[in-house]
Amino acid sequence: MQNFIFRNPTKIIFGEGQIAALNAEIPPDARVLITSGGGSVKSNGVLAQVQAALGERAWFVFGGIEPNPIYETLMQAVAMAREKNIDFLLAVGGGSVIDGTKFIAAALKFDGEPWDILEKQAEVRDAMPFGSVLTLPATGSEMNSGSVISHRARGDKLPFNSEATYPRFSVLDPTTTYSLPPRQIANGVVDAFVHIVEQYLTYPVGASVQDRFAEGLLITLTEVGPQALDEPHNYEVRANLMWAATMALNGLIGAGVPQDWATHMLGHEITALHGLDHAQTLAIVLPAMLSVRREEKRAKLLQYAERVWNITRGSEEDRITGAITATRVFFERLTVGTRLRDYKIGGASIGTLVAKLEEHGMTALGEHGGVTPEVARQVYQMSV
Ligand code: NZQ
Ligand code: ZN
Repeated sequence: MQNFIFRNPTKIIFGEGQIAALNAEIPPDARVLITSGGGSVKSNGVLAQVQAALGERAWFVFGGIEPNPIYETLMQAVAMAREKNIDFLLAVGGGSVIDGTKFIAAALKFDGEPWDILEKQAEVRDAMPFGSVLTLPATGSEMNSGSVISHRARGDKLPFNSEATYPRFSVLDPTTTYSLPPRQIANGVVDAFVHIVEQYLTYPVGASVQDRFAEGLLITLTEVGPQALDEPHNYEVRANLMWAATMALNGLIGAGVPQDWATHMLGHEITALHGLDHAQTLAIVLPAMLSVRREEKRAKLLQYAERVWNITRGSEEDRITGAITATRVFFERLTVGTRLRDYKIGGASIGTLVAKLEEHGMTALGEHGGVTPEVARQVYQMSV
């Protein structure tokens, strides 16, 4: 196992009816800016529950944060927060709303042009305190310090993270997910699955605890993913999906092990160029990424085949191919297409995708730094 420091300061408040607990988590004299997306939290009643919990506090709402949150919109929220003298932010929604709120929180305390936080990876030393009410199990943003922001004018989608951008608390009420359309449930399962794979499917370092946690989460997702689509109001299923997605990216399984993240970085470029959902890009890139890098990942691919997919027969090559195929079949069973052509995209943009990776300095991705622009090109080509 590699050396590590692990600390996660986010308090999780889990379960049905827990939105009311907001009252005890936010200072009584706070001036709160509620941030939200395109309207789902209004129609499913979550916003009304939040407002009831805030009671007599002064609160305001900034709506309209898009999926794949956009810098230009978030800067409007920054202006509103300044104008209203806000001192606490409350994200109510999915990963995009929470990511967007992390950026707003950082931008409010940042000296200079906030886009530098993404483009130049300028250090974020301070951020306005914020909490979240999660409505979409997927990203883990509710219990991590990461955020991914898009710049419409530049066609960029870039990540940042900082110790200052952990939520103070996150409320996870599985019943808030009942209103999710099947496409977003499927996306969430795929995203969480790939987060685990990025931290697990690298090379062995003798980290049995992390491996077994990761395998348990992967198997849980293979079980509850299809059930969540079949039985949208099954509380037990939604609760397990929600907690698995949070545990997939809160630092626990990634501590002390090598991490990959090349699939995510190649996926971000597809979203920036073609507008696909985040998870759709991962479902496209991952099977191709594993195929192209099967030698580098051989030992872990064999372990993944056996322990997650129960593939124990045949040659090593057969077992590895079987595990990659099982992964693809799982995504497709959730109705998430695994090839660019499923989204009516051909190979014509591959040159642009690779050039964007280079422009963003992403020329040595993966756990060994071996995903060069040439390897990325092979992966994109294989994913057509
Ligand atoms: O905008 P509203 O109206 O709220 O609708 C949203 C949106 O259209 C809808 N939705 C959310 N909760 C709902 C609901 N509809 C009905 N009922 C509910 N309970 O779902 C749609 C998608 O929402 P979004 O927040 O965009 O999805 P997700 O949570 O998958 O977030 C994706 C974003 O997170 C980033 C992605 O790149 C992408 O920008 N990621 C963030 C990470 C992190 N912070 O650690 C890691 C991930 O790898 C990922 O990159
Ligand atoms: Zn992701």
